[in-house]
Amino acid sequence: MSKTTVSAPANIAFIKYWGASDLDRAIPMNPSISMSLEHCVSKCTVEVLSHEGEDEVWLAEPDGGFGTPSPAFAQRVRDHLGRIRRWAGREEAVRVATRNSFPTAGGLASSASGFAALTLAAAGAYGKGGAPPHELSLLARRSGSGSAARSVFGGYVEWPRPKAGSGEEDSYAAPIAKAEHWDLHDVIAVVEIGPKTVSSLEGHRRAPTSPYYTKRQELLPGRLDIVRRAIKERDLAALGPVLEEEAVDLHLIAMSSHPPVWYWSPGTIAVLRAVRELRQEGLAAWTTMDAGANVHVICDAESADDVADRLESLPAVGFVIQDGVGGGPETETTHLF
Ligand code: DP6
Repeated sequence: MSKTTVSAPANIAFIKYWGASDLDRAIPMNPSISMSLEHCVSKCTVEVLSHEGEDEVWLAEPDGGFGTPSPAFAQRVRDHLGRIRRWAGREEAVRVATRNSFPTAGGLASSASGFAALTLAAAGAYGKGGAPPHELSLLARRSGSGSAARSVFGGYVEWPRPKAGSGEEDSYAAPIAKAEHWDLHDVIAVVEIGPKTVSSLEGHRRAPTSPYYTKRQELLPGRLDIVRRAIKERDLAALGPVLEEEAVDLHLIAMSSHPPVWYWSPGTIAVLRAVRELRQEGLAAWTTMDAGANVHVICDAESADDVADRLESLPAVGFVIQDGVGGGPETETTHLF
């Protein structure tokens, strides 16, 4: 039986997807922009079986073995595989396994890389690996993990909301600059490992109940312009403040939703403070966070080691991952099983 293995990157959002007009299909309320990472990736192997029926879903364990995911997660994967089968016009079940190169479900975008890798590997296994990239991005988005739409690409990626009056078929991501265009680094301070207590899905659901939700929507067109221009002109001094505004606003909205969602931990604050101090010392480094306690520090290549040294010296930081912009998904020749 033929197997296809693809690794797809996690991504860190510069402009966040937070709030959806249709949560099941991940139709976003606003456009988002992210950078795909090089080392934080999910690797997924899909093998087409010779019969129809229930798909086998496995998660790689840290010891190298395989475990079964929670029933809810396995169901999400099977639902998505059903979607991919309908799109590919195929009926056979598959065996699928995934391994993340980084802590799962700790706000490090494992769903985005995981569902992007699953989409690309399953498309390949069903003989549709050569489909137009925008179709694969659309399919990844429909997994319900919307940010997976961006993880189908490398470099710097924008995912627009649908145009007014259109359905959702035009809400897929596309690259806006290649990885080689700008060597940005992402030094990730892991202050909390383990699954977050409130899923992004629930965070999106509650977001519109925050009084600050509408205000952020008003501010977004200006921020999007700055981020697009900053990427084009490799202007970290322009990008940095918007990164921090976006991250703080996401968490401000989460904390003021009904009921509130608190992703921050004391370690989050310690890292935010340390990065402010680094800037006062002259380093160009800026923070951002997705829906979790861990902090991504975006900086240039020259500053990355100094940033990592400082973060590692903080008692609240468990460990640091040095990552940076990556080239995007890759088809692999070694399979997970
Ligand atoms: C805060 O619904 O894509 O990371 O399924 O957990 O990956 P997961 O989340 P998703 O929402 C992402 C929310 C965010 C911001 C972003 O990545 O744009």
